[in-house]
Amino acid sequence: MSLVVFPVKEEDAEVVVANLGIAAAHPRVEEVWAVTSGATAAAIAEGAAAVTRRTGKEVSVFAQERIGELRPGKGDAMNTAILRAAGRGFERVHFYDADITNFGAAWIEGAESAADRGFSVVRHRFPRAATDAMITWMVTRPGLAFLFPGTLLPRLGQPLGGEFLVDGEALEAVAADEAVRQRSDWGVDTILTYATSTLGVPVYEHHMTEGKRHALYGSLAELRTMMLECLDAVASLRGLPPPPDGSELVADPRSPVPEDLKEVRGFDVAATNALLSERPGAGEARLARDLPDDVGARALATADGGEIEFMDADAWGATLRILLAGFRLGDAGWEALAFRLWLIRVLSYATGPARDGYDPA
Ligand code: DGY
Repeated sequence: MSLVVFPVKEEDAEVVVANLGIAAAHPRVEEVWAVTSGATAAAIAEGAAAVTRRTGKEVSVFAQERIGELRPGKGDAMNTAILRAAGRGFERVHFYDADITNFGAAWIEGAESAADRGFSVVRHRFPRAATDAMITWMVTRPGLAFLFPGTLLPRLGQPLGGEFLVDGEALEAVAADEAVRQRSDWGVDTILTYATSTLGVPVYEHHMTEGKRHALYGSLAELRTMMLECLDAVASLRGLPPPPDGSELVADPRSPVPEDLKEVRGFDVAATNALLSERPGAGEARLARDLPDDVGARALATADGGEIEFMDADAWGATLRILLAGFRLGDAGWEALAFRLWLIRVLSYATGPARDGYDPA
């Protein structure tokens, strides 16, 4: 039997409780856990009690513990559940982000049916709007490609995805992994992806045709912390061994992308553009001088309205390599510079290749 875990921050309690109910109603599911840290915890606990009355399944809501060493965030929530589930003998454990608005039995079934076919690690992948997933596309996937070329890691559709299943054995391996435990912030998804892709077992990717629907963003300032923590997480994998033999990727075929998803705008371009006018501090300016060619000078010039088109895929690739080697989380200069460079790349892409819609993007 399976456990389903939802890490919850400040999500809409109604969406979360509906998702707890969907999970609990599934015949394969024995228990459902919500690990909370936000102000909505009381409303979620109330809703969970009603789900238990309705389904007869145990639906537990508990606060995330302080486990890791970085900012207390999603990683602490994931690790609270991972450590609590370890040794409990669950056959399978599913994880889902709590804010999915189109959660349904199909997510659980997709993962369970691949697990029935013998896969110990099953990840959901799904199409996303052309300007959504800007950390995945600009940082995590190319970062994994630079660090682990030719392996399954850069080929994973959603390496930052919080939607996956592990069997009991894989769960124990992850629970014993010190790097997973330390990663208390947004970087946890990257570290879990590495941990579950290096077990020497094949990874299955289940394709969710309709996409993962969730609230999108205003200005990309909302993603600043996540972007920096995800950059640090992928950079922390530098020098680690690649996935061993046996860790190949087996995936569902892709399917046509829903038309309405193609129309979704991932973020507010004008509000994001305004972030570039922030004056560079001394630390940012000093670090920018070491960037190759004139990337640093042009990046700093964006504070005075300088152009962003120079940050094409090649310039970004060269820049990302420098970030992977030098970036320091917690250093104000590195954080400001990395965020500015990423904004320039994302805006250059959104107003360039992605301007004409999903298919050209
Ligand atoms: C990503 O880039 O995948 C993050 O979820 C933000 O959209």
